[in-house]
Amino acid sequence: MTASELALPQQRKFGATERRDNWWFKPLLVFLGFSAFIVYSTWAAFQGVNYFYGGLEQGGADYLSPFYSPLLWGEARAHPWIGVGTPSFWPDFLPFTPALLILWAPGGFRFTCYYYRGAYYKSFWMDPVNCGVGEPRKGYRGEQKLPLILQNIHRYFLYLALAFIGILLFDAIKGFIFMNQDGTHSFGIGVGSIVMLLNAFFLAMYTCGCHSLRHIIGGRKDCGSCSGPCGSAYKAVSCLNGKHMMWAWISLFWVGFTDFYIRMCASGVITDWRII
Ligand code: FES
Repeated sequence: MTASELALPQQRKFGATERRDNWWFKPLLVFLGFSAFIVYSTWAAFQGVNYFYGGLEQGGADYLSPFYSPLLWGEARAHPWIGVGTPSFWPDFLPFTPALLILWAPGGFRFTCYYYRGAYYKSFWMDPVNCGVGEPRKGYRGEQKLPLILQNIHRYFLYLALAFIGILLFDAIKGFIFMNQDGTHSFGIGVGSIVMLLNAFFLAMYTCGCHSLRHIIGGRKDCGSCSGPCGSAYKAVSCLNGKHMMWAWISLFWVGFTDFYIRMCASGVITDWRII
């Protein structure tokens, strides 16, 4: 047995505890919340339609679902970055949707997030079930071996996530450009514009509170007494980091809602209301 496989004394049976609070409630809530998001986002990603609301053609603004942005291949009217339709390298047996080309990046970032790891280890794997509650395992390997050592890739996903924030912010800014009746463009605000801007904002708050970013900004050195731009940036990231769980949930909910709103507009179920 290696040092990393220390056997823990089995003091309690699985689920046994002396805790009198509702210790199971939070993991259950996390389980239901994650499950709902995974089901919805998987469904939305495989739809391949109604991810783009072409408002500019109808006197409104263009909105692109965050599940499909950046749009590399896709509908011509949505102005894909690389090509229209299905890429030639796509295998025939797999139905193509533009979301499948890009969702691995934000998905990987979330999946390996330090907060989410702690949350889904408890709620999905029951490892541990909760503090002071008997566990269904005999040894402890931590994240020092395959497959969980791969969670350390989070620091690299961070760079991709930062790029995605810029792209989603660009999409949100485009959502404020409206078509006038005479064919010119002007600034406007629709409900969708606000939904998309909030989406970029919430995702930025979540990403900028990342533990890896905090380390890069100043956590790797003794930054308690840092001053100047570096010290201010470190304090700002630390402040967001303290609310990382809150931003994780708000941004998770809102990114799903943004897709839902744009999907409803694109499919004609609702009409985007222009406020200004
Ligand atoms: S630790 Fe949560 S996003 Fe990096």
